[in-house]
Amino acid sequence: MDEQEASEENKLSQDYKELIISLPREKGWITPYLYLFQGFWHSSTEIQAISTFQNHFQAKDSDIVVASVPKSGTTWLKALTFAIVKRQYFPSLENHPLLVFNPHELVPPFEFVIYDETNWQVHELPKMPEPRLFGTHVPFTSLAKSIKESNSKIIYICRNLFDTFISTWAFVNKIMPEFFPALPLEEAFERYCKGIIGFGPSWNHILGYWRESIARPEKVLFLKYEDIKEDVVFNVKKIAEFLGYPFTEEEESSGAIKNIIKLCSFENMKELKVNKCGTMGKGRVVENKHFFRKAEIGDWVNYLSPSMVEKLSKIIEEKLSGSDLSFRVYDLNNCT
Ligand code: A3P
Repeated sequence: MDEQEASEENKLSQDYKELIISLPREKGWITPYLYLFQGFWHSSTEIQAISTFQNHFQAKDSDIVVASVPKSGTTWLKALTFAIVKRQYFPSLENHPLLVFNPHELVPPFEFVIYDETNWQVHELPKMPEPRLFGTHVPFTSLAKSIKESNSKIIYICRNLFDTFISTWAFVNKIMPEFFPALPLEEAFERYCKGIIGFGPSWNHILGYWRESIARPEKVLFLKYEDIKEDVVFNVKKIAEFLGYPFTEEEESSGAIKNIIKLCSFENMKELKVNKCGTMGKGRVVENKHFFRKAEIGDWVNYLSPSMVEKLSKIIEEKLSGSDLSFRVYDLNNCT
């Protein structure tokens, strides 16, 4: 057992240490290992947090959960959701919370903050004002039962898997602890193609929420990063209506939608002091700036070889076949 693995394992309670030892494991991207838990790959500390979440979380009908595969536009959707839902409390954009807090602080994730005992950021759930906004990368099947059974709402964002892969690889190499060797692209790609990535296989994650959005459209709104980029006004209205906070005509004509879009735009958010210099997490500290990279569709062309593209295309085609789900992989505006 190396130093990092020992320190990860030491954070776990005895019950979880025994569970973890019993699970299939593979080499991780940023932790020494990923373990197969309830059909998806997670780090050991995530498994403890997910189990605590499953055993303890009591959803309220007014709760809103922003769910996603990591690096699919979660930060953006959290910002938009917060700005839309809380706009009656923060009508002015001059002293808006999004100017001084990173969206992940305003929409805290279950598995990294609320139920992550190892991160020592235990959130005071009873003190959260309603509607409570949460984030999660937990797959649909592993969500706490009370979320599925209550009238709480889930909005899910995903992104074409070529860009998601590159965004993840770039992010991981930025936040990698110094003593951990950099992860070569080829090695990350091989693991990705086998579905071995945190919260992966990514295609199964997407399909879980996709199927639920078809079965229960009033419960799960399924969004794609590329669609929001293409028509952000339409999608902001759609999110507001789905969540039960539609814009009035007066709001629309007074520019409320445009202001929210501007506030949450990549260009605006990445220049804010909190997102340039701030950090999050206490166990593993992550600089907020790493959540804002390029925000382009099709950046993967700068990294993937033709054979990689062919291989991943085939996998995606096979995994999504029969689901009626597809992704735009190029930004059509920039395509020559
Ligand atoms: P790139 O790495 O391709 O630039 P997540 O928020 O799920 O971690 O996803 C991160 C990706 O979303 C990054 O993509 C990041 O640049 C992009 N992103 C962050 N904030 C954004 C925003 N306000 N609008 C659009 N994209 C954003």
